[in-house]
Amino acid sequence: VKEQDPPVVTAEKLKDVVTGNRVWRSMVRFSYPGTEKAQAQIVHGLFVTHIHPVKVNVRSIRLTYSWGLGLVSFFLFALLFVTGVLLMFFYIPFTERAYQDILGLETTVKFGRVLRSMHRWGAHLLVATMFLHMLRVFYTRAYRSPREFNWVIGVALFVTILLLSFTGYLLPWDQLSFWAVTASTNILPYAPFLGSKLRLLVLGASEVGQPALLRFYVLHVMVLPGVATVLISFHLWRIFKDGGLAASEARSPGRAAAPLAAPLVSTGNGASDGATVVRERTPRAKEPRLTVHTWPNLIILEALAGLAVTASVLIFSMFVSAPLRDPANPNVTENPSKAPWFLVNIQELFPHMGVLLGGIVIPTVVVLALMALPYVDTGKQGTGEWFLLDRRERWLVLWGAIYALAWTLGLVFLDNYYPIRTWAPRQEILSQTLIPGGIIAGVAFLLYLSVLPWRPRTRELLTLYFTAFVATYVTLTIIGSFFRGAGFVLVAPWDMGPSGLSF
Ligand code: HEM
Repeated sequence: VKEQDPPVVTAEKLKDVVTGNRVWRSMVRFSYPGTEKAQAQIVHGLFVTHIHPVKVNVRSIRLTYSWGLGLVSFFLFALLFVTGVLLMFFYIPFTERAYQDILGLETTVKFGRVLRSMHRWGAHLLVATMFLHMLRVFYTRAYRSPREFNWVIGVALFVTILLLSFTGYLLPWDQLSFWAVTASTNILPYAPFLGSKLRLLVLGASEVGQPALLRFYVLHVMVLPGVATVLISFHLWRIFKDGGLAASEARSPGRAAAPLAAPLVSTGNGASDGATVVRERTPRAKEPRLTVHTWPNLIILEALAGLAVTASVLIFSMFVSAPLRDPANPNVTENPSKAPWFLVNIQELFPHMGVLLGGIVIPTVVVLALMALPYVDTGKQGTGEWFLLDRRERWLVLWGAIYALAWTLGLVFLDNYYPIRTWAPRQEILSQTLIPGGIIAGVAFLLYLSVLPWRPRTRELLTLYFTAFVATYVTLTIIGSFFRGAGFVLVAPWDMGPSGLSF
């Protein structure tokens, strides 16, 4: 009997098996055509191109433009969604059980410790990446027309994500969470008009207890994720509708990034680097605009970013566990009782001024000023380009940061030894609001005077003040996080002890 040759498996045959059946064809309804027009139609019909254009400008997919920070924030949000749903299987928002449930995750639930850590570290990282994303958008002037409203949506997202992190902070029901929320909600009675009613509304009682835990839980797992999902969807859709990233409008020549793969379409007056780039003339920039197909150039980068984010958070969580202190005890005050690190910058203001000014007026003014920013800057020059391209602005950024750092450190230390509150002890409105408010306004005015000889333009003044704000915000966060010990007094970080950390 003649022995038969073993069947040969070729790539071609394998492809036929995978793609030549009904299940595959029900998912992918097209074959890959040879003409440019048909290829473009396919890219247009892909699911992902519902929020992406068929082609993107190569400037906007260059890593050194966006640093992928919005994308990373998006994937972190998705990761928090998935890990959050899994955590919900093991957690009941009942004061008698909450801490035990978290302990159970740490000790008995398989992979529970890693799951909880991924959720916690992911949430912290999201606050950081979102903040950096906002800086990137500001310093590339990507908030200008037609993207003003998307910037406003971004500011609303910023506040929503902070509230999401804050409401989640209470859920472990340990000493850290209980006292952090107690410290933070003590601001609420100072809100104008609503006063103590607002605290009652948020906590459901006069103190942090069962009603507060339930309210925070509902806000954390339903209301705020819902709001954030709507805002993020709208944010991404607006990027598409606003004509992609602002980098595509940049006027300086810049170098074209090499696309990941040969394009699906190649037309126009020819690309210089091996027909990988499509050149088109845009009426606005009056210079050749370089575009490539969204698939695979952008989509593969996005997929890689998603994988990198998930892998990094997973690996970090395998080695570093999320903290869990003793169970919440309303009778034993945690000392220092600090707000979560991303709000400790506000708490850092309280030793120096009244809660009304530091906790209500300043945060409200900051949020409103950020929202108004794109409507003040109506310029066009420099849109979609890093400020580093402009020498004057580089100096302004440096000057704004040094000025704010010096004044913030100086005032914090000065106030530590000569507290403003003692200047007019009987006149609360003077010592707690008018004097500290006047000092802040004076410092801001001096900053303006310091650059007046250079006749700064509006956008340069915005750069100066935005940078000064960021430097102050970061300095206050560092002082509050690492230099405040028991009784919230200034100490060296090594004297603070681990209980001073509010992560
Ligand atoms: C959870 C929070 C956020 C997510 C998931 C998110 C997502 C994104 C993504 C994916 C992009 C595309 C470019 C990139 O990857 O960097 C983008 C662009 C943009 N984002 Fe965000 N973002 C968030 C928060 C913010 C905030 C806080 C602001 C501003 C206050 C903001 C303002 C903008 C603007 C104006 C653009 C267009 C930028 C350009 O054209 O270059 N976003 N965002």
